[in-house]
Amino acid sequence: MSDRGIDNVRAVLWRDGLLYLLDQRRLPAEEMIIQYSEAGEVAGAIRDMVVRGAPAIGITAAYGVVLAARRAWAVNPTDWRREMEADLQGLETARPTAVNLAWAVGRMRAAVAAVEGDPEPALAAEALAIHEEDIAANRAMGELGAGLMDATGRVITHCNTGSLATGGYGTALGVIRSGFVAGRITSVYADETRPWLQGARLTAWELVKDGIPVELIADGAAAHIMKGGGVTWAITGSDRIAANGDVANKIGTYGLAVNARHHGVRFMVVAPTSTVDMAIASGADIPIEERPAGEVLTMAGQPIAPPGAGARNPAFDITPAALIDVIVTERGVVWNPDAEAMAALMARPAPA
Ligand code: MRU
Repeated sequence: MSDRGIDNVRAVLWRDGLLYLLDQRRLPAEEMIIQYSEAGEVAGAIRDMVVRGAPAIGITAAYGVVLAARRAWAVNPTDWRREMEADLQGLETARPTAVNLAWAVGRMRAAVAAVEGDPEPALAAEALAIHEEDIAANRAMGELGAGLMDATGRVITHCNTGSLATGGYGTALGVIRSGFVAGRITSVYADETRPWLQGARLTAWELVKDGIPVELIADGAAAHIMKGGGVTWAITGSDRIAANGDVANKIGTYGLAVNARHHGVRFMVVAPTSTVDMAIASGADIPIEERPAGEVLTMAGQPIAPPGAGARNPAFDITPAALIDVIVTERGVVWNPDAEAMAALMARPAPA
């Protein structure tokens, strides 16, 4: 089966010197695109979840750096680097857990340091390269991950990891796309992913567009579904992978991994090496974003709990490496991840 018609959505677009983001807060009801010309507004869009997903926010921040440099060069061409510093800091700290944000701004900082004269053309080229390399990495991971599937069946996934969450094609959803095209995946269970409902609003939207059969399940139904049999793999993305292979991802991933191990379902994490943070020894040191309690206490703007009830809203959790069967990156796969295997992976050259 050809993959024509698969992956035809883009969440982030740079055109004629302006940044365009598909407003993911409005999906699936409405496809609205917002135009950005200021770095401060781009940081706000990342904070407010207009754009979300680890690689997508990194790519967005890279384009934000281009906008910051344009403004700084226009107002202060002699000291434009100092002029844009506050914008850079605003972009790299817009959200705390996904390391792709700091990684992308770090790579743009190196380009900022090297450029001479008007910085915009060189920085725009670098941001575009980050974007295109992410799509290429996702395509490579799709092939690698699908190649690990020796049985045909259903898979379960959590949150959104598709074209919307990346430069295009997706991490875990990229493997699902490639696995479907290869005939290894028959259909997908998508966890709804409370409280933002990325599974319901985004993953199901992408899969329906691609013609890949999808059934939505409440997060609490995953153990029951896996107990029933027929699920070959649980497949997720990641926001940051520590040097020992511990994985930060959307809240609920840890519970899914515990349940998968209990039911003999293999657990695959798919992430580009821009998500690997070798400076962090273990998951215990990864900062976990706590979002407003109101996101849990309401649904579609309506209260779902009595006045006076409190709520906790950690947006991510840590899955210990011991619960992960395999990590798939564009540099290759790591079975039974640990510190030694992760170091060996990161020592491999990036694919040409
Ligand atoms: O809060 P979000 O929607 O930005 O969280 C996104 C996730 O947790 C994804 O699973 C993750 O970024 C991995 S792959 C794109």
